[in-house]
Amino acid sequence: MEFVAKSDDLTTSKTHCLAVGVFTNRRLSAAAARIDRKTRGLIKRVLHNGDIKGNVGQTLVLQSPPGIAAERILLVGLGGHTEVAAPDFQRAIAAAARTINASASTNVVSALAEVEIAGADLAENIELQVIGFDRGSYRFGEFKAGRGSNASVIRRVTINADKTAVDAVRDAIKVGKAIAGGIRFARDLGNRPANHCTPTYLAECALEMGKQHNSLKVKVLDQAQMEKLGMGALLSVARGSRQPPKLIVMQYHGADAKQAPIALVGKGVTFDSGGISIKPAAAMDEMKFDMCGAASVFGVMQALVELALPINVVGVVPATENLPDGNATKPGDVVQTMSGKTVEILNTDAEGRLILCDALTYCREFNPDVVIDIATLTGACVVALGHHASGLMCADDALANALLAAGNATFDRAWRLPLWDDYQKELDSNFADMANVGSRHGGAITAACFLARFTTDLRWAHLDIAGSAWISGKDKGATGRPVPLLLEYLRQRAAV
Ligand code: BES
Ligand code: MN
Ligand code: ZN
Repeated sequence: MEFVAKSDDLTTSKTHCLAVGVFTNRRLSAAAARIDRKTRGLIKRVLHNGDIKGNVGQTLVLQSPPGIAAERILLVGLGGHTEVAAPDFQRAIAAAARTINASASTNVVSALAEVEIAGADLAENIELQVIGFDRGSYRFGEFKAGRGSNASVIRRVTINADKTAVDAVRDAIKVGKAIAGGIRFARDLGNRPANHCTPTYLAECALEMGKQHNSLKVKVLDQAQMEKLGMGALLSVARGSRQPPKLIVMQYHGADAKQAPIALVGKGVTFDSGGISIKPAAAMDEMKFDMCGAASVFGVMQALVELALPINVVGVVPATENLPDGNATKPGDVVQTMSGKTVEILNTDAEGRLILCDALTYCREFNPDVVIDIATLTGACVVALGHHASGLMCADDALANALLAAGNATFDRAWRLPLWDDYQKELDSNFADMANVGSRHGGAITAACFLARFTTDLRWAHLDIAGSAWISGKDKGATGRPVPLLLEYLRQRAAV
């Protein structure tokens, strides 16, 4: 999908579809009012008939409007406030995109740059439009008839703006496209079935990215190298799989090499069967999404390159399958982590923390300023927070607040859970330095407590995205979260 900035007369611009905003109580946006006059009151008549109320998320296509060059008008409901709330605006845009994609319109002119957004400027309006259009146009059709049908119906979106604003719109489009591209990349990787999206596939993706961009250095550690480093916990998860594990390292250099990087560590379990502690069959297919933390790191790295942010970021992705076989790790097995600490594996389904603990230890190599791990770590987090919030566990208030703020700003929200030492005793083991699971209670927190044992003296935050990384049911698919949160945090870091 291509985005262009233009300053045209909306009444004469030839397009398949002209998108204009309408509000509740039959209120028209400025562009809608102009088009209404040219079409001899068409829009007002439609609003009067009540076919569209103007609520956020409502859309209506008007075919063959008289008096203007556009083939269709798309009315986009923006709600009751002249200053539209930013999340509502993005939702309205995504709904508009879905409606247009269901028509035969391959090009669109958006007259929505004029919409006032609460607490946001023109650049943010445009970013929201680009991200919203891209989100609403997303499809994953690679494995359906007519392969390669990831392409949306919409090919070009022309954002109309005042002559004086066209340059600013063009710049904001670039930013919006970079963010939207990162989200899209994360969704694509998440949705890709596990027989295609293997650890090796992820490694190849990273190497390919590294080849394409000078600012990105990529290396992939194989099993032998991980053995040398003593990553016994990570390797214990891979034992039952025929797919070789990979440790993927992506270094983005946007600032002076001396500047300490921000490390992003993403859980990359490309399929989680539970291992010997095997999961029930229902919805097990969704465990292909168990690499969505890794996918978010990939999405962020790609967007960083496009945005050319002046910071250093290192992405670390431990990638493996978790499967049962004769060689698989068994409940009761004790392994030694890279840190030297030993772990009694009481449940092979608590594998995320096993691969993350070694990846977290490994990332000390980069002397990171901040470490953030992103993981579909626990079903308990879904029980606690449902699907709207990611779980955030972090002992550093300033870092926690910065991440919460970034989530709020991008409607990719997180909610903080405690990370108190009181929970640590759950992990006591009779046979090793710690067990890999606690009791049934507070499972999201004990998982974080396990990781905390490997991040002492690091400024570290843990995002449990088990509830937010994908949607189940009819619209099953990866959401691309928390790419928006992470990119916002990094943009804020780059701005100071
Ligand atoms: N990948 C799962 C977590 C998960 C489960 C995410 C369901 C989303 C939906 C993780 O590896 C896991 O299996 N965790 C266990 C931990 C337990 C054994 C302590 C869980 O949550 O049941
Ligand atoms: Mn598991
Ligand atoms: Zn898992």
